[in-house]
Amino acid sequence: MNDLDRDKLIEAAFEVQKNAYAPYSGFYVGAALLTEDGTVFTGTNVENSSFPVGVCAERSAFAAAVSSGHRKFTAICVTGERKNNPLLGSNYCMPCGMCRQFMTEFCDQNFEIISAKSKTDYQINKLSTLMPGAFMFFGTTF
Ligand code: THU
Repeated sequence: MNDLDRDKLIEAAFEVQKNAYAPYSGFYVGAALLTEDGTVFTGTNVENSSFPVGVCAERSAFAAAVSSGHRKFTAICVTGERKNNPLLGSNYCMPCGMCRQFMTEFCDQNFEIISAKSKTDYQINKLSTLMPGAFMFFGTTF
């Protein structure tokens, strides 16, 4: 991923994070997903009064992209910020285990996950580091 794409993704994740629906946790998450052809899809967490029904920002972004016909991805940027909740920290926002498995369906091990605290303070990890030995149905991608 080049610098321009990385900056574009970080900017888009912070922008969409403003739309996060997180009245229960107070943790607002944004995700911006880059397709192989350079298109960006975004998503936020969308919580629910029945807690497990809520969805993470990363899976929202993947669902939007796949629904629009995209299946090949290069990178995702994730941003997270607590609002009025002193129990939640402000570390680099890492994708949860369920989202890592979700990514494995569509992304190879070189897929990059940018966890950004700000436009200039971020960590980049490969999917191979965050999800080694992921479950694959017959080892197949469709
Ligand atoms: N969350 C995400 O959106 N992505 C993650 O990878 C971790 C957690 C959301 C789910 C829930 O709405 C809130 O953050 C607190 O767990």
